[in-house]
Amino acid sequence: MSRRVLITGAAKRIGRVIAIELHRKGFEVAIHYHTSQREARQTARECGDAPIFQADLSKVPEIQRLFGEVREKFGPLDCLVNNAARFTRFQPLEITEADWDFIHSVNLKGAFFCCREAARQMRERGAGRIVNISSLGGIRPWADHVHYCASKAGLIMLTKALAKALAPAISVNSVAPGVILFERDDDEAQRMIKATPMQRPGKPEEVADAVHYFLTAPPFITGQLLAVDGGLSQR
Ligand SMILES: NC(=O)c1ccc[n+]([C@@H]2O[C@H](COP(=O)([O-])OP(=O)(O)OC[C@H]3O[C@@H](n4cnc5c(N)ncnc54)[C@H](OP(=O)(O)O)[C@@H]3O)[C@@H](O)[C@H]2O)c1
Repeated sequence: MSRRVLITGAAKRIGRVIAIELHRKGFEVAIHYHTSQREARQTARECGDAPIFQADLSKVPEIQRLFGEVREKFGPLDCLVNNAARFTRFQPLEITEADWDFIHSVNLKGAFFCCREAARQMRERGAGRIVNISSLGGIRPWADHVHYCASKAGLIMLTKALAKALAPAISVNSVAPGVILFERDDDEAQRMIKATPMQRPGKPEEVADAVHYFLTAPPFITGQLLAVDGGLSQR
């Protein structure tokens, strides 16, 4: 079985680890990046010289160009992992239209049009898998991130609606990470880790495992949300 997967925002951090883990497990991976070309090249080397593709996912024409190039140079997609996202912190009364659009243009609009373009390729092949990386912030409200929470809650509902719309050929599921740490944690992360039943932050490999599960699970499993959050969403 051919298992060609595009991972968006895969130059660094969680996306990079998802790409490396999927490559290790036998997937043919394609790396998307926006500004981190050097890191994307490094990730690609770690994925057996995988192809890399650049695009700004806040712009629909760029998304269409990206999927055209992927199809031409990599081949029609079997799987898509929508990982790229933006994250900012503002008091809600300070949020401007530009701040709102900055988040939604990538986290929700960009994710939808990536699903649309990927699904068009998958439909022709009669099968496909999409995994949208949402967030604990799409399940639980965070007061200083209302715009981000709204975008990720939207992505969770987008996942469910698309699962219905794209069945039976394509399954669509979502993985919602809790606190996944890379650099030194800030006070907000520290507070969340303290509240996490598992009493530690998550590892990017744990997010990658959940993505791998949906990419290989029975296609009868669709429209589902899997939180990788050490139990924090249960509090
Ligand atoms: N880290 C966490 O604790 C956590 C918690 C919950 C949910 N999540 C979710 O997990 C996913 C990965 O998290 P992360 O912390 O690893 O993400 P991140 O580093 O903040 O962002 C991932 C990538 O998104 C890409 N990106 C941003 N704007 C873009 C644009 N306009 N067009 C194309 N790509 C763009 C960036 O690519 P370039 O670097 O190439 O510009 C970036 O490397 C995200 O969906 C995030 O919301 C993370």
